Amino acid sequence: MLSKGKFAVIGAGKMGEILISALLDSGSVKKEQFIATAKHQARIDVISKEYGVETTLDNAEAVRRANIVLLCVKPQNSIPVLESIRSELTENKLLISIVTSLTTAKMEAVLGKSVPVIRAMPNTPALLKAGITALSGGKSAQPADLEKAKTIFLSVGRALIVDEHHMDAVTALSASGPAFIFIIIEALAEGGVMVGLPREVATELVAQSTLGAAKMVLETGKHPALLKDQVTTPAGCTIDGILQMEEGGIRVTLIKTIVEAARRARELIEER
Ligand SMILES: NC(=O)c1ccc[n+]([C@@H]2O[C@H](COP(=O)([O-])OP(=O)(O)OC[C@H]3O[C@@H](n4cnc5c(N)ncnc54)[C@H](OP(=O)(O)O)[C@@H]3O)[C@@H](O)[C@H]2O)c1
Repeated sequence: MLSKGKFAVIGAGKMGEILISALLDSGSVKKEQFIATAKHQARIDVISKEYGVETTLDNAEAVRRANIVLLCVKPQNSIPVLESIRSELTENKLLISIVTSLTTAKMEAVLGKSVPVIRAMPNTPALLKAGITALSGGKSAQPADLEKAKTIFLSVGRALIVDEHHMDAVTALSASGPAFIFIIIEALAEGGVMVGLPREVATELVAQSTLGAAKMVLETGKHPALLKDQVTTPAGCTIDGILQMEEGGIRVTLIKTIVEAARRARELIEER
């Protein structure tokens, strides 16, 4: 399904580059199928040198030549960029935006015509095909459009379709989420350093344990509490560690982390 399209990556920054790199790596899209843009010549030079894809500073030209448009600019640039490509977007093209907080209703209002639009929220582990992307369709997006978008993001990890009103929660949990997990990995590794492990050993032990624990949740389908109980021997060392976590308020801290990040995601719409 992806081997035939032409993809315009509008704003090939960190996420745009990750998508180009991961889609090329997956073999599902060839370099000739991409045309990428950025604001500065220096940035598109880096992208064309690294990936051998076509580039231009002209967003409208890129959209004209593509049938799938990936909008990857920052929220504050998204409306002017959408306005600049509006005339090139038709009902035969698919617009997929990864812009945080930019709703499908807002995109449709700016475009003022029935272009199929999809809002997607990927995350940086897409680089290693271990991402997860949540997708919601706008008014003119057909099930086939959502499926096409899902296929794109499935080539860089998992993908699921959600009601758009959940997107702020998704942003907090899975788009910001890797940053929260990195802090947890770093902190646990510091604990390892405190009890005498070399830092690289501590980090590898924690990172692989995090990966393994996540795989157990995803692949057994068991509740995390049940999996935790299987590790926690009566009067053993795990329960002593858990006591420290609970005393430090880790659950409340993590719950509040998500609530605050989701609140901030909602706020970003109003600031634009
Ligand atoms: N980072 C994440 O983990 C993550 C996860 C999910 C969603 N997102 C969303 O993805 C979007 C991109 O984030 P990012 O981290 O990739 O940001 P970024 O690295 O700053 O990339 C944004 C890119 O947009 C380009 N740009 C700015 N104005 C432009 C214009 N008028 N025309 C064409 N290109 C323009 C910039 O070009 P120059 O480089 O030339 O300045 C830059 O390459 C954001 O909306 C963010 O909310 C990010």
